[in-house]
Amino acid sequence: MSNENVRAETIAAHALRAIEPVTGAVVPPIHLASTYARDENYEKRLPDDYQRGGNPTLYQAEALVAALEQGAACLLYPSGVAAIFALVDTVPVGGHVVAPINMYYGVRVWLKALADKGRISLSLIDMTVPGAIREAVRPGKTDLVWIETPSNPLWDVIDIAEAAAAAHDAGAILGVDATATAAVTTRPLTLGADIVFHSVTKYLNGHSDVLAGALITREVNDRWTLLQTLRTKTGAPLAPFECWLLMRGIRTLFVRYREASANAKAIARHFSSHPKVERVLYPGLATHPGYEIARRQMTDGFGGMMSFLLRTDFDGARHFCTLLKVITPATSLGGPESLAEHRKLIEGPDSPVPDNLVRFSIGLENVNDLVADIAQALDRLG
Ligand SMILES: Cc1ncc(COP(=O)(O)O)c(C=O)c1O
Repeated sequence: MSNENVRAETIAAHALRAIEPVTGAVVPPIHLASTYARDENYEKRLPDDYQRGGNPTLYQAEALVAALEQGAACLLYPSGVAAIFALVDTVPVGGHVVAPINMYYGVRVWLKALADKGRISLSLIDMTVPGAIREAVRPGKTDLVWIETPSNPLWDVIDIAEAAAAAHDAGAILGVDATATAAVTTRPLTLGADIVFHSVTKYLNGHSDVLAGALITREVNDRWTLLQTLRTKTGAPLAPFECWLLMRGIRTLFVRYREASANAKAIARHFSSHPKVERVLYPGLATHPGYEIARRQMTDGFGGMMSFLLRTDFDGARHFCTLLKVITPATSLGGPESLAEHRKLIEGPDSPVPDNLVRFSIGLENVNDLVADIAQALDRLG
């Protein structure tokens, strides 16, 4: 059976039918070679004969991620931020970028630093306000509109099709950080996005043991060719072992994501009326301001990410993370183990994140254990 006309779950479970042709091994080998011999005519056997350009394990992992996102091609990088800033590097000098205020803070901070030194011009806006993107773009000047949906750690939901129309009408491209939707529940390229980004570190790999980032494109065009060249010239492809681990992780992507979504939904519902919880921010709750868009856009689960606004202050929220016994106090998300983090402490005083926000990455444990753990920590919070 080929992978033509099969559904995304099948593509993921087979890792794109990765059977090794010589031995029949159902798990692909890892090609660790840094260099590849030319043939008898001194021609390259592969598109790249040196690992900085690429290698068979990288090509296999990239084809798999591109297929899951229904994209034309994928580029893998050694971290999520390396992938995002490779894309930002294709913005012309002084070019205009529109991005959300509420987004992964590491990217916001670095975009601001680039704007401060004049490399780009930047509009950081509240994208939950209707029409905000259309108002912020500058026709003919805006090169990149960047959205993150749901956004980390407030889980704002942004309408991808609307953002794409606003970007395209101004002559810009739309890039979507879809880390929280993990190529399972939303396909931004089919909604009009030009480039999708994933911090592969999170759900796609899903085992908290790989740092990586992916860009996936709707079409191979001049910008994509530039990205390919830049990655080789700057020496930033993902290494073969990480590519192999990623393919292994993707095989269980759908079951992991659906289980995390089910656990998260149960937890969000359970604690939304708890006296020590001011608000639960989860796109799968009907009370979430982005719920209607999420329902349209997230067709296979609302994911495992949520935040609680606790009825406490900065110190109380920090203390809460130390009271958890099953959930690990650690950064990152999308792994099998549930994690909790006091984001304001991590992001610093300039961050718009509320002092009392605790972010949860809900994992694959028994949901009753997770509920009991959060309940006992709330009880002891004082
Ligand atoms: C939404 C989002 N985008 C981008 C990144 C950056 O990815 P990485 O840590 O793989 O560099 C993160 C990391 O937490 C993230 O949560």
